[in-house]
Amino acid sequence: MPELTVEGRAVTVADGVTVLAALQNLGLHVTRRSGRGEARGALCGMGVCAECRALVNGVLVRTCLTTAQAGLTVERVAEVRGDR
Ligand code: FES
Repeated sequence: MPELTVEGRAVTVADGVTVLAALQNLGLHVTRRSGRGEARGALCGMGVCAECRALVNGVLVRTCLTTAQAGLTVERVAEVRGDR
C-alpha cells in the first residue's frame, strides 16, 4: 500500500485509489478556494470540471485522475488560475 504525504501528513492508502480519494478520506473535501474565497471541491469525479485540482509533487493536476503512489506530496491550493 502506497504511503504519500498530504499537507505534511504521512498517509497510507489502498492500492489503486486516486489522490482525490486520499484527500476525501482525510475529510479534505475542499480542494481549493476561488479568487473570491469560495470553497471548491470535486464535482464530476471524472476529469471534466477541474475543481479537484491540487499540487502533486508541485504540479497542478486533477486529483480525480491521479493515482496515489508512494512518495507523492499533495498540497491543496488557495486559488487556481488556468488549467493543465
Ligand atoms: S472532480 Fe471534476 S475534474 Fe476532478
